[in-house]
Amino acid sequence: MLDRICAGDVPRKHHLQLRGAGGELRHEECFTRDGFDGPYTILYHLRRPHTHRLAPAEHGWRAPEPAGARPLAKRHYESGKLAARGGPQIDARVALLFNDDVIAGVAFPTAEDPVYVADGDADQLIYIHRGGGLVRSVLGDLPFAQGDYVFVPRGLLHRFLPDAAAQHWLWLSLAGGVHVPRQWRNEVGQLRMDAPYSHRDFKRTQFVGPLDEGIRRLVVRRAGAWHGFALADSPLDAVGWDGTVYPWAFPILSFQPRVSSVHLPPTWHGTFAARGALICSFVPRPVDFHPEAIPCPYPHSSTHCDEIIFYCDGNFTSRQGVGAGSISHHPMGMPHGPHPGAYEGSIGTTRTDELAVMADTFAPLSATPAALAIEDAGYQDSFV
Ligand SMILES: [Fe+2]
Repeated sequence: MLDRICAGDVPRKHHLQLRGAGGELRHEECFTRDGFDGPYTILYHLRRPHTHRLAPAEHGWRAPEPAGARPLAKRHYESGKLAARGGPQIDARVALLFNDDVIAGVAFPTAEDPVYVADGDADQLIYIHRGGGLVRSVLGDLPFAQGDYVFVPRGLLHRFLPDAAAQHWLWLSLAGGVHVPRQWRNEVGQLRMDAPYSHRDFKRTQFVGPLDEGIRRLVVRRAGAWHGFALADSPLDAVGWDGTVYPWAFPILSFQPRVSSVHLPPTWHGTFAARGALICSFVPRPVDFHPEAIPCPYPHSSTHCDEIIFYCDGNFTSRQGVGAGSISHHPMGMPHGPHPGAYEGSIGTTRTDELAVMADTFAPLSATPAALAIEDAGYQDSFV
């Protein structure tokens, strides 16, 4: 959640009457998180926002299921080889790795969502590896582009409208909620001067006012299943809102990396946090500058984290055999590190042009059958 936005018509005090030019009473909706303890947004609708009739759920991505017990091993999934492509993102998402906190997958959507969507289970954080488009919600329109993280809060009615470009998304469904790491905020919630990004770096939803797209269906994900509802009117009927809960986008290249004389741990690349996960951005930067520095990451036994890295672009100094769209999964329980030769070979280098998104999860991840279908079977032994 970011700073407060106020858009359109709102009364001078919350919970007071708001009326249209002809005296029509507007209908308040308090969109709250963590019960009534957390961040919130208050909307004002033309009509009552809670008039949904039951209907079939005709859309929704498939809930992840484990592929079954497998040996503990370092894994590499080539997401670009996924066969399932096309359609709206609500159907096109394919889950690859998951635990109770996180579902990670990819999608290659080619069409607009034909229904409105509300995810009652999790916040959505989508990294746009290729493509762009718009998220349209009851709060307004949010354009996004290649290289953006796109955030959609849990429970918010919205739909995705990808543009004509080829799309390749990494999506993370984060049940515990996405937030800015606490160390990047000061005591009033403002992003600190020494945070790796500022308020100005975020693209925010632009309010457009009541809109009727002719869509009268809504699907809601709850407890992993999709539920359908029919609407009598357009739900995009807000005349105004204020609050801190809204979709936003953050360009990964706006992340300001840190460099030290010796190698800094991934926490310095921490971009977004969630229950059970830390999402890090590795962006082009100078590397460690101590005269005896080894710029390549050291082998490590991160005993409490599974690590997944989505390789976006550039030259991945520590890895061989991975390319754009690759996803590595290094599980807790055994050490991992650079490929043969990468550690020594990095000595004396001054820059890296790698671009990658990493998620450390604090519970083990299971792979889905879809992940197994795009697995590089030789990855574990490639470190020998
Ligand atoms: Fe690692």
